[in-house]
Amino acid sequence: MTTTAPARRLGDAPAPETLDPAERMSADELRALQLSRLQWTLRHAYENVPHYRRAFDAHGVHPDDCRELADIARYPTTSKKDLRDNYPFGMFAVPQEQVRRVHASSGTTGKPTVVGYTAKDIDDWAGLIARSIRAAGGRPGQKIHNAYGYGLFTGGLGAHYGIEKLGATVIPVSGGMTPRQVQLISDFEPDVIMLTPSYMLTLLDEFARQGIDPRSTSLKVGIFGAEPWTEQMRSEIEERMNIHAVDIYGLSEVMGPGVSQECVETKDGLHIWEDHFLPEVVDPLDGTPLPDGEEGELLFTSLTKEALPIIRYRTRDLTTLLPGTARPSMRRMAKITGRSDDMIILRGVNLFPTQIEEIVLRTPGFAPHFQLELTTEGRMDALAVRVEAREDTTPERREAAAAELVKAVKDGIGVSVTCEVVEPDSLERSVGKLQRLKDRRTR
Ligand code: DLL
Repeated sequence: MTTTAPARRLGDAPAPETLDPAERMSADELRALQLSRLQWTLRHAYENVPHYRRAFDAHGVHPDDCRELADIARYPTTSKKDLRDNYPFGMFAVPQEQVRRVHASSGTTGKPTVVGYTAKDIDDWAGLIARSIRAAGGRPGQKIHNAYGYGLFTGGLGAHYGIEKLGATVIPVSGGMTPRQVQLISDFEPDVIMLTPSYMLTLLDEFARQGIDPRSTSLKVGIFGAEPWTEQMRSEIEERMNIHAVDIYGLSEVMGPGVSQECVETKDGLHIWEDHFLPEVVDPLDGTPLPDGEEGELLFTSLTKEALPIIRYRTRDLTTLLPGTARPSMRRMAKITGRSDDMIILRGVNLFPTQIEEIVLRTPGFAPHFQLELTTEGRMDALAVRVEAREDTTPERREAAAAELVKAVKDGIGVSVTCEVVEPDSLERSVGKLQRLKDRRTR
């Protein structure tokens, strides 16, 4: 007997006339636009940012050496360290009076990285968010509940201006105060919600606490990003909420949310808005360029940014570049597997939290809440997976589920872990980006 995966429920494509001109360009037109914008960006960075002038000179390249798109590989890459070394404003390419806004990363692992925007940058960003929301199934005139955090994080304000630009009504809730989020969704009846997938799970708990069926709300679309999430998580959220769940990606150094977006009519990875960003994939270890279709580390070069042009930024995110579908001229990126920094190397085997998420979500009896803990046992590292049981899971089922998870990890990933099933509602909940891994190794 053969089993086929259930057909994915897809949404309606936006009317062709509502797309931006760039979304309708032929591949040749788009490549020509990218090349002229790339040449401008290289010159702008070289002439206005001492870091880029030094790095290009040391590499023996000049902006004039870029004659075709493939020439991008001749230029040096940029890393988070370069932004930190030039903290706070040393990477800016325009005088401070032209900077209308700054954002910054949280800086949990050192100095924050600071990014800046001119008025045009902010307008371009809002346009790309509007485009992203439309691709996700949102429309002008709708109400959009924005639960990405407001402040130095790019999520809240980035989404905010894009919602307005689309011609929709923004409900600027930010993250936190979870009971009130649920109340506002019930009372204001938004069509679209924007937040991290892990915070969506926290809201789902709160719906249950308030005795509200999450399938009964006005919501039709959820736009989830800022952290990795899997196809299994998409099914979990779509089924429990009766909405379309689509993926939005971005990072502060490159702009913020809206660098790429999944289209609701295909749900097959994220289209990169290539009129503004040139993607590459390289070997994460030695930086060698890889052809489209091979998995590696994603790099971006901005094509229009004025305040903070960014050349070949090493995102550390792992993905694969794929041909365009819903927007044929723009390439897609596969859902992010994880960041190279989040990769756990357990007794020589590479493992990503997303791989564990897939297994947790397909194991009957488990809730979608889990944590990973790395410890040192003797001379070895050990990984414990702590997963919540669903409310109605019997003790026998809990035991069986734990054994199934251990076996699935061993068979599928090739390494032994332990699994502890914990009570419903006992693990830490997210209000934004979730940190799943607790590293308690002593060596
Ligand atoms: O997280 C921007 C953002 C806000 C994106 C809201 C989407 C929605 P940073 O705080 O600079 O910016 O973190 C960027 O988050 O390099 C990825 O590792 C991760 N990330 C962002 N979106 C996704 C996604 C914002 N859809 C870092 N899937 C990136 C997987 C994502 N990881």
